Amino acid sequence: MTTDEPQTSTLPEGLRYIQYEHALESKYLPAIRALISKDLSEPYSIYVYRYFLYQWAHLCYLALDPRDDSLVAVIICKLEHHISHSPVTHRGYIAMLAVSSVHRGNGIATSLVKMAIDAMADRKADEIVLETEETNIPAMRLYERLGFLRSKKLHRYYLNGNSAYRLVLMLKSPEVAHQGFDDVI
Ligand SMILES: CC(C)(COP(=O)(O)OP(=O)(O)OC[C@H]1O[C@@H](n2cnc3c(N)ncnc32)[C@H](O)[C@@H]1OP(=O)(O)O)[C@@H](O)C(=O)NCCC(=O)NCCS
Repeated sequence: MTTDEPQTSTLPEGLRYIQYEHALESKYLPAIRALISKDLSEPYSIYVYRYFLYQWAHLCYLALDPRDDSLVAVIICKLEHHISHSPVTHRGYIAMLAVSSVHRGNGIATSLVKMAIDAMADRKADEIVLETEETNIPAMRLYERLGFLRSKKLHRYYLNGNSAYRLVLMLKSPEVAHQGFDDVI
């Protein structure tokens, strides 16, 4: 690809996918916040971003434009033991996902979600959950195509009054999850 091609012609296979790390904060955190706050219905403070990025940098991935390393897309996740659940569940959570509007529809979010699923499965997650607005057709299509199921409808969940679906991807059967818990703590 030559450098004089228009910005919108970048193909997803030309993108560089990297894992987030703390050394990248000053370079990418402002762009991450800008990309996410542009489309998501919840205004997150910088502390929310740091809560995830400080503890679960290994579960956060960036897609970069190889021509200038600018941010094209990001996924931010966490993985914790969900102790109020019986049996205790090792639960992954996709907190934020956004792709720059000019690059949507090229499978970039699909690639990022697959990377996050693989990373959480490698760390013995039992399940992965998330919430998305019921009207967010691209997000619903993407997650359901990857095997996520609707587990609950959350009425008027967002500040804008919109309802959400909680989606879940089961990585292990409940019995296996229970047996495996001692191995991961
Ligand atoms: C949701 C989002 C992350 C998807 O990113 P993306 O890179 O375009 O996603 P992908 O190309 O991997 O897949 C999108 C799917 O939605 C479909 N889609 C895209 N726009 C659509 C539309 N307007 N109507 C119906 N389906 C649509 C695509 O065809 C694709 O499904 P398919 O592969 O079954 O055809 C992106 O639209 C975005 O950043 N939105 C704003 C932030 C957001 O909503 N984040 C998710 C919160 S949980």
